[in-house]
Amino acid sequence: MNSLVDPLPGDSPRFSLHDFAPAQESFEDAVVEGLSGPRKSVPARFLYDEAGSRLFDCICELPEYYPTRTELKILTDKADEIGASIGPDIALLEFGAGSSQKARLLLDALERPAAYEPIDVSREHLIRLADEIADAYPGLAVRAICADYTQPLELPDSEPRRRRAGFFPGSTIGNLTSAEARAFLSGWAGQLGRDGLMVVGVALRAPSSIVLPAYDDAQGVTARFTANVLVRANRELGADFDVAAFRHTPTYDETTGRLTIHLTSLKAQTVHLAGRRFDFAEGEQLHVEESNKYAAEDFQALARSAGYVAETVWIDPGELFSVHVLRVA
Ligand code: AVI
Repeated sequence: MNSLVDPLPGDSPRFSLHDFAPAQESFEDAVVEGLSGPRKSVPARFLYDEAGSRLFDCICELPEYYPTRTELKILTDKADEIGASIGPDIALLEFGAGSSQKARLLLDALERPAAYEPIDVSREHLIRLADEIADAYPGLAVRAICADYTQPLELPDSEPRRRRAGFFPGSTIGNLTSAEARAFLSGWAGQLGRDGLMVVGVALRAPSSIVLPAYDDAQGVTARFTANVLVRANRELGADFDVAAFRHTPTYDETTGRLTIHLTSLKAQTVHLAGRRFDFAEGEQLHVEESNKYAAEDFQALARSAGYVAETVWIDPGELFSVHVLRVA
């Protein structure tokens, strides 16, 4: 249900909040389901509680973790070209309330941006981001949309014939399987409409010597980030994971670009959770994340199969990251 709420009751609204009241997913149900199958897993979205989000912010600053700074450099260095390729008077629809730094770089690159529309399930993050952008861009229409962007939804009406550009930065699309990425892109192609655009940041397939350390840093921050999902299960669900008996294990296939992260059980152990027991053999792996890397032409082929024309791609000189502009065919 789409309801329009004044986020600052009593004040003149600086942005509108369109609240679809996304269902809160049960962490317990997801963990029980993920541990019950033959190949154990926990959905990666549960890595991002408060502690996990703080650790992810630290990851972005690590010397080994190149995606964030490489994407920022492309968005900065190629701003004029990216802005020109998107064109004037566009409404920018950002998937996820990420850092306002990326949204600002793109808004600054655009000619007369008409609106900024971040979508996120977290009302709190969304309001913080909408507020920051409304502050920095007086006169820009800011419509915050509280919803799960992986599900179909009816976007708030914009002015007639207003073109929209989706913005999915950060190589978050790599955290989806390629089938999920195609489904995401094709679902939004329908929503954005003919001549709508999608601007996507994608980490490139690159040598293991560069990719693996980015997910296995010397300070162990990424290891703390993935282990945090077990810490969270112990705290929130009363589970008894022996966190020290799991090892952060990233693996990367240079030829396919598939990066997966597991937590490997260092001993045979039984975990109790929600009145059930889950046995781990020594060496058994718990899948916690994947982060797919794409050759630029492979990502363009995926986008074409999802109903887009691949317009332009910008790549950094080290060939580690790409920013794509796709147009709905
Ligand atoms: C959020 N996402 C794009 C990050 C990535 O690179 O896949 C998550 C991450 N996991 C470990 N390090 C960073």
